Amino acid sequence: MSALIDTYGRNHRNLRVSLTDRCSLRCTYCMPHDFAAWIPNDDLLTTDELITIIDVAVSQGIDEVRLTGGEPLLRPDIVEIVARIASMKNAPRLTLTTNGLRLKELAEPLAKAGLNRINVSLDTLSRERFKTLTYRDRFNDVIEGLLAGKAAGLFPVKVNTVLLQGINDDEAPALLAWAIENEYSLRFIEQMPLDAGGIWDRSTMVSADQIYADLSAHYTLTPVDGRGSAPAEEFYINGTQNTVGIIGSVTRPFCGACDRLRLTSDGQLRSCLFSIEEVDVRSVLRDANKDDAAKRSEIAARFQKTVLGKLPGHGINDPSFIAPPRPMSAIGG
Ligand code: 5AD
Ligand code: SF4
Repeated sequence: MSALIDTYGRNHRNLRVSLTDRCSLRCTYCMPHDFAAWIPNDDLLTTDELITIIDVAVSQGIDEVRLTGGEPLLRPDIVEIVARIASMKNAPRLTLTTNGLRLKELAEPLAKAGLNRINVSLDTLSRERFKTLTYRDRFNDVIEGLLAGKAAGLFPVKVNTVLLQGINDDEAPALLAWAIENEYSLRFIEQMPLDAGGIWDRSTMVSADQIYADLSAHYTLTPVDGRGSAPAEEFYINGTQNTVGIIGSVTRPFCGACDRLRLTSDGQLRSCLFSIEEVDVRSVLRDANKDDAAKRSEIAARFQKTVLGKLPGHGINDPSFIAPPRPMSAIGG
């Protein structure tokens, strides 16, 4: 086994796998609401192709796999994918980021298939605002999905929130009160420029400092030591063991400790959310002139190539920064 170590000494143990770029919501910070440049179906990795790539990644030291989208629960084979990853030799810790809409029916089968934890995206406690933010009237489905996740033992259920100026930026303290009451673990994420050239604007971005200040007006926050490779800065709330996270991706980058690689649903490896370059593995799997062993060793080599091309940081704050051409929905969160 050769570990996935980059030229800056970062060891990569976490693979984010986007299972589809399709989504049942249209969160404005993630994709334009009239987005139409979907990945063609034939380009999406099959279940077997996904499992092969993940298995190769595990043999190179990946010990956590996060399934993302788009919306990963739109994949008809989602329970099978989870079961097959969970039964691998040296099975990685397995988590999933979802918008929650289909959790009501899927939380239990997923937990039974071996899923360890879920992150659910929810930005507001208002059904009306939810509609404005996502272009869909599905707030109640998310709430039911969250309850189903908890009932299925996917504990602690994490909730991801993005605050947008003038839409939901007054909700941080109320969201935290709700999360404490319902035993969800809440993390605020600074909005990143990942909406395919849409609405991101540094001057209106709700910053980590702002979120900290808003929460501090209602709660006593004490930093939890030891962030490790985790992006969230965690704080104890009012001296209890409950915590809240604030992910300052833009204003407090954590690239120096990043241990993440990404696989898109059409089989491209990325070393960063913000990569412009991708390394193709789909064509390796579909090469009729290679046997399975040759495919596996070529995929392993391409993981190494991806890691060795990793830049020190995302560069969002550099004057020459260019946002990636894919929207977040096609990269995977
Ligand atoms: N900035 C920050 N977070 C984002 N997400 C999607 N797009 C963005 C963005 N531009 C979040 C979603 C979800 C996770 C996958 O990533 O809210 O929780
Ligand atoms: Fe869908 Fe998630 Fe993007 Fe919202 S953030 S549109 S739920 S992929």
